[in-house]
Amino acid sequence: MNHQLKTINAMQRVLVTGATGNIGREVVHFLLQKEGMEVISAVRNVEKARSEFPVHPSLSFRKFDFQKTPSEAVFDGVDVLFLLRPPQLADVDKYFVPLLRTAKKKLSKVVFLSVQGAEKSKTIPHHKIEHAIRELGFEYIFVRPSYFMQNLTTTLAKEIREERRITLPSGKGKFNWIDVKDIGEATASLICRFDEYRNKAIEITGEENLSFGEVTDLMSQVYGQPFRFRSVNPIRFFFMKRREGMPSDFAFVMTMLHFIPRLVDAPKISPAFEQLLGKRPSSLKTFLERERKVIVG
Ligand SMILES: NC(=O)c1ccc[n+]([C@@H]2O[C@H](COP(=O)([O-])OP(=O)(O)OC[C@H]3O[C@@H](n4cnc5c(N)ncnc54)[C@H](OP(=O)(O)O)[C@@H]3O)[C@@H](O)[C@H]2O)c1
Repeated sequence: MNHQLKTINAMQRVLVTGATGNIGREVVHFLLQKEGMEVISAVRNVEKARSEFPVHPSLSFRKFDFQKTPSEAVFDGVDVLFLLRPPQLADVDKYFVPLLRTAKKKLSKVVFLSVQGAEKSKTIPHHKIEHAIRELGFEYIFVRPSYFMQNLTTTLAKEIREERRITLPSGKGKFNWIDVKDIGEATASLICRFDEYRNKAIEITGEENLSFGEVTDLMSQVYGQPFRFRSVNPIRFFFMKRREGMPSDFAFVMTMLHFIPRLVDAPKISPAFEQLLGKRPSSLKTFLERERKVIVG
């Protein structure tokens, strides 16, 4: 009985937003491998989400929509909120501040998936969300990952597949490349070790800083066929994305995220991943080999 009570007390309930996306899916996967973790996936469509995850006794689903006023019930019984900003939602005052205010009535711990350099970039929504989390008095961990390798298999995939080309406003700017699986594993570990990392911002990076020209060279080498990089100016890029139907705030964030690296030093390489997990993060070459089918078809 005592043992059972102890187990119940030690159980941590984590509400995972964005659970069906790149990062959220990996966070759920790695959290479910940890002892004493109960995961509630906060999703727009519960039935659809349920069909996308393997059945697991510690996994449940709760209806949640960032674009609707949140009810306090969404946060009932939750110990830690894993908060992710869906890429199309950039209005922090409209979507995130009311949500955080409601969450604060029910819980005190937030792990926010931010971005490397958020502290310096006042124009990006992550900066404002971090600020709101601090202002509202949460205990927090900010996970600040570098550039996702999975951009090659999602946002940039169509042009790569159809044209064997990548077009961005990034010139010779260097990006640090990190595998989303590594971010998910590191984030799950941070959630489990919340007290140790409380009120810290942790950069999760890979070990390579590469420009897009260097990446397309690596792709050519790995896949044995030519890929090329085309750099365009940021204004042209913004309007190209608008013409493709991308909403303007999303196109703006995408332009800035790919233009700013031209103007600043190469990203810092952080030791945090290895310190947390005792292994090295994935290399881009390993990722390209693993995702060959998705990238080249
Ligand atoms: N790409 C990069 O290199 C990079 C680097 C650092 C940080 N980041 C940050 O990472 C975040 C994106 O993560 P990701 O790639 O995992 O995103 P993603 O794959 O696009 O997933 C977005 C998730 O949010 C959910 N969602 C969207 N709108 C919603 C709504 N109105 N209500 C409830 N759920 C909603 C989606 O659910 P549905 O299944 O219902 O659509 C999905 O689960 C962004 O904040 C981005 O800035 C990205």
